[in-house]
Amino acid sequence: MANATLTADAASTSRPAPDWAAVRADFPILRQEVHGYPLCFLDNTATAQKPEPVLAAMDAYYRTTNANIHRGVYQMSEHATELYEGARARIAAFINARSSREIIYTRNTTEAINLVAATWGRANVGPGDAILYTAMEHHSNLVPWQLLAQERGATLRYIPIDDAGRLVLDDLETLLEGVKIVAVTYASNVLGTINPVAEITEAAHRHGAVVLIDGAQAVPHMPVDVQALGCDFLAFSSHKMLGPTGIGCLYGRRALLEAMPPYQGGGDMIRRVTLERSTWNDLPWKFEAGTPAIAEAIGLGAAVDYLSALGMDHVRAHEQQLVAYALDRLNTVPGLRVLGPPAAERGGVAAFSLGEIHPHDIASLLDQRGIAIRAGHHCCQPIMDYYDVPALARASFYIYNTEADVDRLIDGLHFVREVFGSE
Ligand SMILES: Cc1ncc(COP(=O)(O)O)c(C=O)c1O
Repeated sequence: MANATLTADAASTSRPAPDWAAVRADFPILRQEVHGYPLCFLDNTATAQKPEPVLAAMDAYYRTTNANIHRGVYQMSEHATELYEGARARIAAFINARSSREIIYTRNTTEAINLVAATWGRANVGPGDAILYTAMEHHSNLVPWQLLAQERGATLRYIPIDDAGRLVLDDLETLLEGVKIVAVTYASNVLGTINPVAEITEAAHRHGAVVLIDGAQAVPHMPVDVQALGCDFLAFSSHKMLGPTGIGCLYGRRALLEAMPPYQGGGDMIRRVTLERSTWNDLPWKFEAGTPAIAEAIGLGAAVDYLSALGMDHVRAHEQQLVAYALDRLNTVPGLRVLGPPAAERGGVAAFSLGEIHPHDIASLLDQRGIAIRAGHHCCQPIMDYYDVPALARASFYIYNTEADVDRLIDGLHFVREVFGSE
C-alpha cells in the first residue's frame, strides 16, 4: 500500500494513536447486556456498530433538514442537497478519488458490483470473452458475473487459493489471456487474507482487462487509495464502516463511467425526457435513479469523518495487533483450527473450526455469554468446498474491540468444549 500518496483526510502518520477506550465509549450499543453479560460484539465483518456522531448526524437531518434533494429551491432542500453532496466529496477524498463525480451511491457493495456487471458488462463482454474472479470471493462478487456470463456467452475463470488461504498467482499471466474484467476482493471476509490487488491490477491492465476491487472488507479497515491501486472500480458498503445500512458506493474511473449506459431509469438520472426518448444526467447522477438514501449518505459522511479523524493507518494497526493476539490465544484452544494466513497478512478476521462441534452450536453457546460471533458459510460456499467444511465459526474485530474481548471469546470457547464433554 502506497501510504505516501494518501489524502490528508485518510493519512494519519503525524497523528498520535487514538485513545481506544474513548473510541469504545462512543458506541452506545456496546453498553448493553445480553443474557446478563456485557455485550461482546465480534461480528464486525457482517456489520459494524455506529458511533454517536453518525447517530447524531442522521437524527439531526430528520429533525431539522428532511427534504428531497436536487429539486427544491427552498432553503431546507438546498441544505439537504449540500449535506448529501458534501458527504460524497468527503467519501471521494477518503479513498483518494480524483473527483466526487467518480463516486456513485448504491445500496451496498452488492448493488455496486451488480451495477458494473449490468452496465459495463453488457456493453463490453461478449461471446468467447472471459471473466476472471477468485476462489475466495463473496457470493456478491461471483453471482453477478455468473449471470453476466450466462447472458453474454462468456466464460468464467478463477484464481485458485492454497491451503494457507492465499491466492495462487503463478499462472496469472495465462489466466488473464482473453479476460475482459477481473473481479477480486481486497480482503477476504472468511480467511482475512489481504490480497496483492495493485499487482493483480497492473497485470490485468497489461492484458487490456479492467479491474473491479471488492473493497467491502478493506475500505472500513485500512487506508485505501484508488489512484495508488490503479483500479477501475471499487465497491464498498457503509454499514461495515460505522455508517448506516441502505447505502454503499461504487468508485469508477470517470472515463469508464462516462461511457457506461445507465443502470436504472427514473427521476434524477435524466437530463431531458420526451414521450419518445430520454437523455442522461451528468455523472454521478446518471446512475442514481429516484429519491436516494439521503439520511444514509449523511450518516456515511459522518462515519468517514470519524474514521478519518482516527486515521486509517491507526485503525489498521489496532486491528492487526488484536488479530495477532487473537490468533495466538485461539491456537491454545485444543482442537481449534484457524483458517487463513498469519496476522501480518490478514485483516481483523479469524474463522475457525473446533473439533467436531458444529459452528452453530459454538455461536449459540457463546451467545449465552453475551458474545456475538458468526457461524455459517459466510456467503462464501466455494471456500467451504475448498476446505471441505459445511460451515465455520468466525470472530471479527473493529476499532472498539479490545484484548479483553478476545479473552472472553477464549473463555467462552473453553466453556463450549466443556458443554460438549471435550475437557
Ligand atoms: C468481501 C465482501 N464482499 C461483499 C460483501 C457484500 O456486502 P453487502 O451485503 O453490504 O452488499 C460482503 C459482506 O459481508 C463481504 O464481506
